[in-house]
Amino acid sequence: MDKKRRPVIAGNWKMYKTTSEARNYAQSLVGLVGEISELDIVVCAPFTSLPVLKEELKDTIVHLGAQNMCWADEGAFTGEISPRMLLDVACTYVIIGHSERREHFRETDEDIARKVKAAIASGLKPILCVGENLSQRQEGKALAVVRAQLQHDLLELAADDLRKITIAYEPIWAIGTGKTASSKDAQEMCAAMRSTLSGISGSIAEKILILYGGSVKPDNIAELMAQPDIDGALVGGASLTAEGFAQLIKNACIA
Ligand code: PGA
Repeated sequence: MDKKRRPVIAGNWKMYKTTSEARNYAQSLVGLVGEISELDIVVCAPFTSLPVLKEELKDTIVHLGAQNMCWADEGAFTGEISPRMLLDVACTYVIIGHSERREHFRETDEDIARKVKAAIASGLKPILCVGENLSQRQEGKALAVVRAQLQHDLLELAADDLRKITIAYEPIWAIGTGKTASSKDAQEMCAAMRSTLSGISGSIAEKILILYGGSVKPDNIAELMAQPDIDGALVGGASLTAEGFAQLIKNACIA
């Protein structure tokens, strides 16, 4: 694999799996991908499974991530989980601003900007999700929407912190629908995002990882990975079985 940046393949389990299911999955996945060195593998699990995964993934190549966090380190925030708590259960990554959180839980760009800043300040690596919905794409507004999200969500960051962020371009119409953006469209958007990032951060933009997400599967990952501005994938449904996710990771390495 010949990539400018070291790729990341991150699984996003969403609200799936009990602790015993998580344990079995981790044991299988480690057995299947233990030898892979070409890219970084991340599993972003529900909060309840993180302690079990901390145990199972210790001293393995699989990194652990959460799917959300609060911007405060502690305090009177009933129902929230802080960056400190995520570090305590060995998370190194955290997904921020997933479209499902923006849509169902009304997360705003302002909330997301605060969370991104707090994640970096605490030493977690945020995976910031951006992406347009179907009507925005049909109206030709996809790039403008994504640009505005990037500008708002990264507003709070110092230029030097920008290199610590990973961005996932996830067109909402492609999430969980079986419809993937064509690799050409995905590449075009990721290249345009990189040029927006270079407007914000100059040459650091060349170092920032941009993942694609939205119905990524074992049979379309290689083509996506072959695109110069796509540095990996954020994978929902196809990360839910260890066998399927391992196959997807192996196919990513062949690209
Ligand atoms: P999907 O989800 O792979 O099931 O489309 C991707 C995501 O929401 O991160």
